[in-house]
Amino acid sequence: MPEQAIKPVISVSQLRCIGCGKTALPDRFRCEHCRDLLEIIYPGWANAGPAGLDPSALRSLWLKRRASFEPPDQSGVWRFREILPEIAAEQIITIREGNTPVYELVHCAKSAGIKQLYAKHQGMNPTGSFKDTGMTVAASFARQAGYHWVACASTGNTSASMAAYAARGGLHSLVLIPDGKISWGKLSQSLDYGAITCQLKTDFDGCVRVLNEVVERMPVYLLNSVNPYRVEGQKTAAFELLEQFNWQPPDHVIVPGGNLANSSAIGKALREMKQLGLISRLPKISVVQAEGANPLVRSMRENGGEKLIPVHAETMATAIRIGNPASWKKALRVIRESEGTVEQVSEIEIALAKAEIGAEGVGCEPASAVTLAGLKKLVKEGFVKPNETVVLILTGHVLKDADFTLKFHRGDLFEGMPQEAETGTLKSHQRSPLILEPSVEAVIELLRTAEQDLHA
Ligand code: F0G
Repeated sequence: MPEQAIKPVISVSQLRCIGCGKTALPDRFRCEHCRDLLEIIYPGWANAGPAGLDPSALRSLWLKRRASFEPPDQSGVWRFREILPEIAAEQIITIREGNTPVYELVHCAKSAGIKQLYAKHQGMNPTGSFKDTGMTVAASFARQAGYHWVACASTGNTSASMAAYAARGGLHSLVLIPDGKISWGKLSQSLDYGAITCQLKTDFDGCVRVLNEVVERMPVYLLNSVNPYRVEGQKTAAFELLEQFNWQPPDHVIVPGGNLANSSAIGKALREMKQLGLISRLPKISVVQAEGANPLVRSMRENGGEKLIPVHAETMATAIRIGNPASWKKALRVIRESEGTVEQVSEIEIALAKAEIGAEGVGCEPASAVTLAGLKKLVKEGFVKPNETVVLILTGHVLKDADFTLKFHRGDLFEGMPQEAETGTLKSHQRSPLILEPSVEAVIELLRTAEQDLHA
Protein backbone atom coordinates (compact mmCIF):
# COMPACT_ATOMS: atom_id res chain seq x y z
CA MET A 1 0.00 0.00 0.00
CA PRO A 2 1.63 3.32 -0.97
CA GLU A 3 2.17 5.36 2.15
CA GLN A 4 1.50 8.69 0.53
CA ALA A 5 -2.07 7.52 -0.13
CA ILE A 6 -2.93 8.26 3.46
CA LYS A 7 -2.26 11.53 5.27
CA PRO A 8 0.76 11.16 7.57
CA VAL A 9 -0.47 12.88 10.73
CA ILE A 10 -4.16 12.53 11.34
CA SER A 11 -5.24 12.97 14.94
CA VAL A 12 -3.30 12.82 18.16
CA SER A 13 -5.34 10.72 20.50
CA GLN A 14 -5.14 10.07 24.22
CA LEU A 15 -6.72 7.51 26.49
CA ARG A 16 -8.76 8.95 29.35
CA CYS A 17 -10.67 7.29 32.17
CA ILE A 18 -14.45 7.77 31.95
CA GLY A 19 -14.62 7.82 35.78
CA CYS A 20 -11.78 9.91 37.24
CA GLY A 21 -10.63 11.59 34.01
CA LYS A 22 -6.96 10.62 34.40
CA THR A 23 -5.03 9.75 31.24
CA ALA A 24 -3.72 6.23 30.59
CA LEU A 25 -1.15 4.46 28.43
CA PRO A 26 -2.31 3.56 24.89
CA ASP A 27 -2.46 -0.23 25.40
CA ARG A 28 -4.55 -0.23 28.60
CA PHE A 29 -8.24 -1.09 28.99
CA ARG A 30 -8.99 0.10 32.51
CA CYS A 31 -7.84 3.03 34.59
CA GLU A 32 -5.05 2.04 36.97
CA HIS A 33 -6.41 4.46 39.58
CA CYS A 34 -10.12 3.65 39.69
CA ARG A 35 -10.52 0.59 37.34
CA ASP A 36 -13.14 2.32 35.22
CA LEU A 37 -13.18 1.98 31.41
CA LEU A 38 -11.08 4.17 29.13
CA GLU A 39 -12.11 6.23 26.15
CA ILE A 40 -10.16 7.91 23.40
CA ILE A 41 -10.10 11.69 23.22
CA TYR A 42 -8.52 14.09 20.73
CA PRO A 43 -7.31 17.18 22.60
CA GLY A 44 -6.12 18.90 19.40
CA TRP A 45 -9.63 19.14 17.96
CA ALA A 46 -10.57 21.95 20.31
CA ASN A 47 -8.20 24.35 18.56
CA ALA A 48 -8.04 23.38 14.92
CA GLY A 49 -10.61 20.63 14.24
CA PRO A 50 -9.59 17.13 13.06
CA ALA A 51 -6.49 17.42 10.84
CA GLY A 52 -7.04 21.19 10.90
CA LEU A 53 -10.17 20.85 8.76
CA ASP A 54 -13.56 22.55 9.16
CA PRO A 55 -16.88 20.67 8.84
CA SER A 56 -17.42 21.37 5.16
CA ALA A 57 -13.84 20.34 4.24
CA LEU A 58 -14.26 17.13 6.23
CA ARG A 59 -17.58 16.29 4.60
CA SER A 60 -16.24 16.72 1.07
CA LEU A 61 -12.96 14.91 1.79
CA TRP A 62 -14.80 11.87 3.20
CA LEU A 63 -17.17 11.73 0.26
CA LYS A 64 -14.40 12.20 -2.31
CA ARG A 65 -12.55 9.16 -0.97
CA ARG A 66 -15.43 6.95 -2.09
CA ALA A 67 -14.18 7.38 -5.66
CA SER A 68 -10.62 6.28 -4.78
CA PHE A 69 -9.15 2.81 -5.30
CA GLU A 70 -6.68 3.02 -2.39
CA PRO A 71 -7.55 0.34 0.20
CA PRO A 72 -7.90 2.72 3.19
CA ASP A 73 -10.09 5.04 1.12
CA GLN A 74 -12.25 2.09 0.06
CA SER A 75 -12.84 1.24 3.70
CA GLY A 76 -15.94 2.88 5.15
CA VAL A 77 -13.96 3.19 8.39
CA TRP A 78 -10.61 4.56 7.25
CA ARG A 79 -12.10 7.08 4.87
CA PHE A 80 -13.10 8.85 8.09
CA ARG A 81 -9.53 8.62 9.44
CA GLU A 82 -9.45 12.23 10.64
CA ILE A 83 -11.72 11.22 13.52
CA LEU A 84 -9.79 8.02 14.34
CA PRO A 85 -6.59 7.38 16.32
CA GLU A 86 -3.38 7.63 14.34
CA ILE A 87 -2.30 4.30 12.84
CA ALA A 88 0.58 4.10 10.35
CA ALA A 89 -0.68 3.33 6.84
CA GLU A 90 1.35 0.14 6.52
CA GLN A 91 -0.21 -1.24 9.72
CA ILE A 92 -3.81 -0.84 8.61
CA ILE A 93 -5.65 -4.16 8.28
CA THR A 94 -8.74 -3.58 6.17
CA ILE A 95 -11.20 -5.97 4.51
CA ARG A 96 -13.11 -2.98 3.08
CA GLU A 97 -15.49 -2.76 6.02
CA GLY A 98 -18.15 -0.09 6.45
CA ASN A 99 -19.89 1.71 3.56
CA THR A 100 -23.03 -0.17 4.55
CA PRO A 101 -26.45 0.60 3.08
CA VAL A 102 -29.41 2.43 4.58
CA TYR A 103 -32.73 0.89 3.56
CA GLU A 104 -36.16 2.39 3.96
CA LEU A 105 -38.53 -0.10 5.67
CA VAL A 106 -41.99 0.83 4.44
CA HIS A 107 -43.95 -2.13 5.79
CA CYS A 108 -42.15 -2.24 9.12
CA ALA A 109 -42.88 1.49 9.50
CA LYS A 110 -46.54 0.79 9.01
CA SER A 111 -46.50 -2.07 11.44
CA ALA A 112 -44.81 0.15 14.05
CA GLY A 113 -47.20 3.04 13.38
CA ILE A 114 -44.75 5.62 12.03
CA LYS A 115 -44.15 7.19 8.62
CA GLN A 116 -40.38 7.19 8.14
CA LEU A 117 -38.33 4.18 9.17
CA TYR A 118 -34.84 3.29 8.00
CA ALA A 119 -32.36 0.53 8.74
CA LYS A 120 -28.62 1.08 8.71
CA HIS A 121 -27.52 -2.46 7.94
CA GLN A 122 -24.22 -3.17 9.65
CA GLY A 123 -24.72 -6.85 8.86
CA MET A 124 -23.53 -5.98 5.35
CA ASN A 125 -19.94 -5.82 6.59
CA PRO A 126 -17.34 -8.36 5.34
CA THR A 127 -17.85 -10.93 8.12
CA GLY A 128 -21.57 -10.18 8.39
CA SER A 129 -21.71 -7.99 11.49
CA PHE A 130 -21.01 -4.49 12.77
CA LYS A 131 -17.96 -5.81 14.62
CA ASP A 132 -15.76 -5.35 11.54
CA THR A 133 -15.81 -1.57 11.80
CA GLY A 134 -14.26 -1.67 15.26
CA MET A 135 -12.04 -4.64 14.61
CA THR A 136 -10.19 -3.00 11.71
CA VAL A 137 -9.01 -0.23 14.05
CA ALA A 138 -8.23 -2.35 17.12
CA ALA A 139 -6.50 -5.15 15.18
CA SER A 140 -4.41 -2.56 13.31
CA PHE A 141 -3.45 -1.00 16.64
CA ALA A 142 -2.47 -4.45 17.96
CA ARG A 143 -0.19 -4.99 14.98
CA GLN A 144 1.29 -1.51 15.29
CA ALA A 145 1.94 -2.07 19.01
CA GLY A 146 3.88 -5.25 18.16
CA TYR A 147 1.50 -7.91 19.48
CA HIS A 148 1.52 -11.35 17.82
CA TRP A 149 -1.53 -12.69 19.63
CA VAL A 150 -5.02 -11.24 19.95
CA ALA A 151 -7.95 -12.71 21.88
CA CYS A 152 -11.61 -12.20 22.66
CA ALA A 153 -14.52 -13.70 24.54
CA SER A 154 -17.57 -13.63 22.33
CA THR A 155 -21.15 -14.54 21.61
CA GLY A 156 -19.97 -15.27 18.07
CA ASN A 157 -19.70 -12.13 16.00
CA THR A 158 -16.69 -10.53 17.66
CA SER A 159 -14.85 -13.84 17.34
CA ALA A 160 -15.73 -14.21 13.64
CA SER A 161 -14.56 -10.69 12.98
CA MET A 162 -11.40 -10.90 15.10
CA ALA A 163 -10.39 -14.18 13.48
CA ALA A 164 -10.71 -12.66 10.01
CA TYR A 165 -8.79 -9.46 10.78
CA ALA A 166 -6.08 -11.37 12.63
CA ALA A 167 -5.66 -13.68 9.65
CA ARG A 168 -5.50 -10.77 7.21
CA GLY A 169 -2.96 -9.01 9.41
CA GLY A 170 -0.71 -12.01 10.05
CA LEU A 171 -1.65 -12.20 13.76
CA HIS A 172 -2.63 -15.29 15.77
CA SER A 173 -5.99 -15.32 17.48
CA LEU A 174 -7.60 -17.02 20.45
CA VAL A 175 -11.39 -17.23 20.80
CA LEU A 176 -13.34 -18.10 23.96
CA ILE A 177 -17.02 -18.78 23.35
CA PRO A 178 -19.81 -20.22 25.51
CA ASP A 179 -20.24 -23.91 24.68
CA GLY A 180 -23.46 -24.58 22.74
CA LYS A 181 -24.75 -21.03 23.05
CA ILE A 182 -23.64 -19.45 19.81
CA SER A 183 -24.90 -20.08 16.31
CA TRP A 184 -22.93 -22.64 14.32
CA GLY A 185 -22.57 -20.15 11.46
CA LYS A 186 -20.53 -17.85 13.68
CA LEU A 187 -18.54 -20.72 15.14
CA SER A 188 -17.73 -21.95 11.64
CA GLN A 189 -16.39 -18.52 10.68
CA SER A 190 -13.85 -18.42 13.46
CA LEU A 191 -12.67 -21.94 12.51
CA ASP A 192 -12.49 -21.03 8.84
CA TYR A 193 -10.41 -17.90 9.51
CA GLY A 194 -7.94 -19.96 11.53
CA ALA A 195 -8.50 -18.90 15.13
CA ILE A 196 -7.74 -21.21 18.05
CA THR A 197 -11.34 -21.64 19.14
CA CYS A 198 -12.26 -22.80 22.66
CA GLN A 199 -15.82 -23.60 23.69
CA LEU A 200 -15.93 -23.04 27.46
CA LYS A 201 -18.58 -24.71 29.58
CA THR A 202 -19.95 -21.41 30.81
CA ASP A 203 -21.79 -18.37 29.43
CA PHE A 204 -20.38 -15.21 27.79
CA ASP A 205 -19.85 -13.53 31.16
CA GLY A 206 -17.87 -16.57 32.34
CA CYS A 207 -15.71 -16.46 29.19
CA VAL A 208 -14.96 -12.78 29.87
CA ARG A 209 -13.84 -13.60 33.42
CA VAL A 210 -11.42 -16.27 32.19
CA LEU A 211 -10.03 -14.14 29.39
CA ASN A 212 -9.44 -11.09 31.57
CA GLU A 213 -7.05 -13.16 33.63
CA VAL A 214 -5.36 -14.77 30.62
CA VAL A 215 -4.49 -11.38 29.12
CA GLU A 216 -3.05 -10.23 32.47
CA ARG A 217 -0.63 -13.14 32.43
CA MET A 218 0.23 -13.54 28.74
CA PRO A 219 1.35 -11.07 26.03
CA VAL A 220 -2.02 -11.26 24.32
CA TYR A 221 -3.94 -8.18 23.22
CA LEU A 222 -7.59 -8.09 24.26
CA LEU A 223 -10.04 -7.35 21.46
CA ASN A 224 -13.26 -7.35 23.44
CA SER A 225 -15.33 -4.19 23.26
CA VAL A 226 -13.76 -2.74 26.42
CA ASN A 227 -10.95 -2.06 23.95
CA PRO A 228 -11.28 1.68 23.26
CA TYR A 229 -9.95 1.35 19.69
CA ARG A 230 -12.88 -0.86 18.80
CA VAL A 231 -15.28 1.82 19.94
CA GLU A 232 -13.51 4.35 17.72
CA GLY A 233 -13.99 2.19 14.63
CA GLN A 234 -17.63 1.50 15.48
CA LYS A 235 -18.16 5.25 15.68
CA THR A 236 -17.80 5.53 11.92
CA ALA A 237 -21.18 3.83 11.34
CA ALA A 238 -22.83 6.94 12.76
CA PHE A 239 -20.66 9.35 10.75
CA GLU A 240 -21.58 7.40 7.66
CA LEU A 241 -25.27 7.34 8.59
CA LEU A 242 -25.31 11.12 8.92
CA GLU A 243 -23.50 11.45 5.61
CA GLN A 244 -26.24 9.26 4.08
CA PHE A 245 -28.81 11.60 5.66
CA ASN A 246 -27.04 14.62 4.19
CA TRP A 247 -26.03 15.59 7.76
CA GLN A 248 -29.65 16.07 8.85
CA PRO A 249 -30.08 14.01 12.03
CA PRO A 250 -33.03 11.63 12.29
CA ASP A 251 -35.18 11.99 15.43
CA HIS A 252 -34.34 8.57 16.87
CA VAL A 253 -31.61 5.96 16.55
CA ILE A 254 -32.41 2.57 18.06
CA VAL A 255 -29.60 0.15 18.93
CA PRO A 256 -29.66 -3.41 20.31
CA GLY A 257 -27.92 -3.73 23.67
CA GLY A 258 -25.61 -6.58 24.71
CA ASN A 259 -22.26 -5.64 26.18
CA LEU A 260 -23.36 -2.04 25.43
CA ALA A 261 -20.32 -0.91 23.44
CA ASN A 262 -22.13 -0.25 20.18
CA SER A 263 -24.65 2.15 21.70
CA SER A 264 -21.69 3.86 23.39
CA ALA A 265 -19.84 4.14 20.09
CA ILE A 266 -22.83 5.53 18.18
CA GLY A 267 -23.43 8.01 20.98
CA LYS A 268 -19.78 9.08 21.09
CA ALA A 269 -19.86 9.65 17.34
CA LEU A 270 -22.95 11.83 17.53
CA ARG A 271 -21.52 13.81 20.45
CA GLU A 272 -18.34 14.41 18.45
CA MET A 273 -20.25 15.35 15.30
CA LYS A 274 -22.13 17.97 17.29
CA GLN A 275 -18.92 19.28 18.89
CA LEU A 276 -17.31 19.53 15.45
CA GLY A 277 -20.27 21.37 13.93
CA LEU A 278 -21.11 18.53 11.52
CA ILE A 279 -24.64 18.32 12.94
CA SER A 280 -26.67 20.77 14.97
CA ARG A 281 -28.61 18.46 17.29
CA LEU A 282 -28.46 14.94 18.69
CA PRO A 283 -30.97 12.25 17.77
CA LYS A 284 -32.41 10.42 20.76
CA ILE A 285 -30.45 7.18 21.18
CA SER A 286 -32.41 4.30 22.70
CA VAL A 287 -31.20 0.83 23.61
CA VAL A 288 -33.32 -2.31 23.38
CA GLN A 289 -32.53 -5.54 25.23
CA ALA A 290 -34.12 -8.97 25.29
CA GLU A 291 -36.32 -9.47 28.38
CA GLY A 292 -34.14 -12.40 29.43
CA ALA A 293 -30.91 -10.41 29.13
CA ASN A 294 -31.97 -7.01 30.44
CA PRO A 295 -29.42 -5.73 32.99
CA LEU A 296 -29.49 -2.15 31.70
CA VAL A 297 -33.29 -1.98 31.57
CA ARG A 298 -33.53 -3.34 35.10
CA SER A 299 -30.88 -0.97 36.40
CA MET A 300 -32.56 2.08 34.85
CA ARG A 301 -36.00 1.08 36.11
CA GLU A 302 -35.02 -0.13 39.55
CA ASN A 303 -32.31 2.32 40.61
CA GLY A 304 -32.26 5.04 37.95
CA GLY A 305 -29.00 3.68 36.53
CA GLU A 306 -27.08 4.27 39.77
CA LYS A 307 -25.60 0.82 39.72
CA LEU A 308 -25.68 -2.18 37.39
CA ILE A 309 -27.89 -5.13 38.31
CA PRO A 310 -26.24 -8.13 36.61
CA VAL A 311 -28.66 -10.87 35.52
CA HIS A 312 -28.37 -14.51 34.52
CA ALA A 313 -28.93 -14.01 30.80
CA GLU A 314 -31.17 -16.24 28.69
CA THR A 315 -32.44 -15.45 25.19
CA MET A 316 -32.59 -17.08 21.76
CA ALA A 317 -30.99 -13.89 20.43
CA THR A 318 -27.67 -15.44 21.47
CA ALA A 319 -25.59 -12.46 20.29
CA ILE A 320 -26.98 -10.40 23.17
CA ARG A 321 -27.15 -13.15 25.78
CA ILE A 322 -25.13 -11.05 28.21
CA GLY A 323 -25.90 -10.46 31.89
CA ASN A 324 -23.04 -8.25 33.04
CA PRO A 325 -22.31 -5.69 30.30
CA ALA A 326 -18.90 -4.04 30.54
CA SER A 327 -19.79 -0.75 28.86
CA TRP A 328 -23.01 0.02 30.74
CA LYS A 329 -21.76 3.35 32.13
CA LYS A 330 -20.80 4.58 28.68
CA ALA A 331 -24.19 3.56 27.28
CA LEU A 332 -26.03 5.18 30.16
CA ARG A 333 -24.23 8.45 29.53
CA VAL A 334 -25.25 8.35 25.86
CA ILE A 335 -28.90 7.63 26.68
CA ARG A 336 -29.05 10.46 29.23
CA GLU A 337 -27.18 12.96 27.08
CA SER A 338 -29.36 12.32 24.03
CA GLU A 339 -32.59 11.99 26.05
CA GLY A 340 -33.12 8.48 24.74
CA THR A 341 -34.53 5.56 26.69
CA VAL A 342 -34.31 1.81 27.24
CA GLU A 343 -36.82 -0.90 26.35
CA GLN A 344 -37.04 -4.66 26.61
CA VAL A 345 -38.78 -7.13 24.32
CA SER A 346 -39.97 -10.72 24.60
CA GLU A 347 -38.78 -13.70 22.59
CA ILE A 348 -42.04 -13.75 20.62
CA GLU A 349 -41.73 -10.02 19.85
CA ILE A 350 -38.15 -10.58 18.61
CA ALA A 351 -39.20 -13.48 16.36
CA LEU A 352 -42.07 -11.47 14.86
CA ALA A 353 -39.94 -8.38 14.24
CA LYS A 354 -37.22 -10.47 12.60
CA ALA A 355 -39.78 -12.00 10.22
CA GLU A 356 -41.12 -8.56 9.34
CA ILE A 357 -37.63 -7.23 8.52
CA GLY A 358 -36.99 -10.37 6.46
CA ALA A 359 -40.24 -9.97 4.55
CA GLU A 360 -38.99 -6.58 3.30
CA GLY A 361 -36.09 -8.35 1.60
CA VAL A 362 -33.61 -7.03 4.14
CA GLY A 363 -33.23 -9.70 6.81
CA CYS A 364 -31.12 -9.67 9.96
CA GLU A 365 -30.17 -11.89 12.86
CA PRO A 366 -32.41 -12.09 15.95
CA ALA A 367 -30.33 -9.67 18.06
CA SER A 368 -30.80 -6.96 15.44
CA ALA A 369 -34.57 -7.45 15.32
CA VAL A 370 -34.96 -6.28 18.92
CA THR A 371 -34.72 -2.77 17.48
CA LEU A 372 -37.98 -3.04 15.54
CA ALA A 373 -39.69 -4.90 18.38
CA GLY A 374 -38.57 -2.14 20.76
CA LEU A 375 -39.65 0.61 18.37
CA LYS A 376 -43.20 -0.78 18.30
CA LYS A 377 -43.36 -0.48 22.09
CA LEU A 378 -41.83 3.00 22.11
CA VAL A 379 -44.46 4.18 19.62
CA LYS A 380 -47.26 2.70 21.74
CA GLU A 381 -45.85 4.43 24.83
CA GLY A 382 -45.73 7.75 22.93
CA PHE A 383 -41.95 8.08 23.25
CA VAL A 384 -41.62 7.93 19.46
CA LYS A 385 -44.19 10.09 17.62
CA PRO A 386 -45.78 8.87 14.37
CA ASN A 387 -44.28 11.73 12.32
CA GLU A 388 -40.71 11.25 13.61
CA THR A 389 -37.88 9.73 11.59
CA VAL A 390 -36.33 6.61 13.09
CA VAL A 391 -33.20 4.65 12.20
CA LEU A 392 -32.72 1.08 13.41
CA ILE A 393 -29.15 -0.18 13.63
CA LEU A 394 -29.23 -3.72 12.26
CA THR A 395 -26.11 -5.37 13.59
CA GLY A 396 -25.93 -8.83 12.00
CA HIS A 397 -26.71 -10.53 8.69
CA VAL A 398 -29.69 -12.88 8.30
CA LEU A 399 -27.36 -15.82 7.49
CA LYS A 400 -25.61 -15.51 10.84
CA ASP A 401 -28.32 -17.62 12.45
CA ALA A 402 -30.08 -19.63 9.73
CA ASP A 403 -31.20 -22.16 12.32
CA PHE A 404 -33.40 -19.60 14.05
CA THR A 405 -34.98 -18.57 10.73
CA LEU A 406 -35.66 -22.14 9.64
CA LYS A 407 -37.19 -23.10 12.96
CA PHE A 408 -39.34 -19.98 12.90
CA HIS A 409 -40.76 -20.75 9.45
CA ARG A 410 -41.24 -24.44 10.20
CA GLY A 411 -43.14 -23.42 13.30
CA ASP A 412 -41.00 -25.21 15.88
CA LEU A 413 -38.95 -22.32 17.27
CA PHE A 414 -40.90 -22.29 20.53
CA GLU A 415 -41.67 -26.00 20.72
CA GLY A 416 -41.81 -27.20 24.31
CA MET A 417 -41.20 -23.69 25.63
CA PRO A 418 -43.46 -21.59 27.87
CA GLN A 419 -44.11 -19.24 24.92
CA GLU A 420 -45.61 -22.04 22.79
CA ALA A 421 -49.16 -20.95 23.60
CA GLU A 422 -48.53 -17.42 22.29
CA THR A 423 -47.25 -18.38 18.85
CA GLY A 424 -50.61 -17.75 17.15
CA THR A 425 -49.54 -14.20 16.24
CA LEU A 426 -46.59 -15.61 14.29
CA LYS A 427 -48.54 -17.98 12.03
CA SER A 428 -49.31 -15.48 9.26
CA HIS A 429 -45.57 -14.72 8.98
CA GLN A 430 -44.46 -18.33 8.67
CA ARG A 431 -43.60 -19.75 5.25
CA SER A 432 -42.48 -23.32 5.70
CA PRO A 433 -40.93 -25.04 2.66
CA LEU A 434 -43.42 -27.07 0.60
CA ILE A 435 -42.60 -30.60 -0.46
CA LEU A 436 -44.09 -31.44 -3.86
CA GLU A 437 -43.97 -34.14 -6.52
CA PRO A 438 -41.71 -33.05 -9.43
CA SER A 439 -44.73 -32.17 -11.59
CA VAL A 440 -45.40 -29.04 -13.66
CA GLU A 441 -49.14 -29.26 -12.86
CA ALA A 442 -48.51 -29.39 -9.15
CA VAL A 443 -46.33 -26.26 -9.25
CA ILE A 444 -48.80 -24.39 -11.47
CA GLU A 445 -51.68 -25.35 -9.22
CA LEU A 446 -49.72 -24.03 -6.27
CA LEU A 447 -48.99 -20.75 -8.04
CA ARG A 448 -52.71 -20.31 -8.88
CA THR A 449 -53.71 -20.88 -5.27
CA ALA A 450 -51.03 -18.47 -4.08
CA GLU A 451 -52.25 -15.83 -6.53
CA GLN A 452 -55.87 -16.30 -5.37
CA ASP A 453 -54.77 -16.01 -1.75
CA LEU A 454 -53.14 -12.68 -2.55
CA HIS A 455 -56.50 -11.30 -3.69
CA ALA A 456 -58.60 -13.01 -1.04
N1 F0G B 1 -26.05 -7.37 17.77
C1 F0G B 1 -25.21 -8.35 17.42
C2 F0G B 1 -25.48 -9.08 16.17
C3 F0G B 1 -24.10 -8.67 18.25
O1 F0G B 1 -23.28 -9.63 17.89
C4 F0G B 1 -23.92 -7.95 19.45
C5 F0G B 1 -22.80 -8.24 20.34
C6 F0G B 1 -24.83 -6.92 19.75
C7 F0G B 1 -25.87 -6.67 18.90
C8 F0G B 1 -24.70 -6.10 20.97
O2 F0G B 1 -23.69 -5.13 20.83
O3 F0G B 1 -22.37 -5.78 22.82
O4 F0G B 1 -21.97 -3.64 21.64
O5 F0G B 1 -24.06 -3.98 22.96
N2 F0G B 1 -22.03 -9.24 20.20
C9 F0G B 1 -20.80 -9.47 20.98
C10 F0G B 1 -20.00 -10.61 20.39
C11 F0G B 1 -20.95 -9.46 22.42
O6 F0G B 1 -19.21 -11.23 21.11
O7 F0G B 1 -20.12 -10.86 19.20
P1 F0G B 1 -22.98 -4.58 22.14
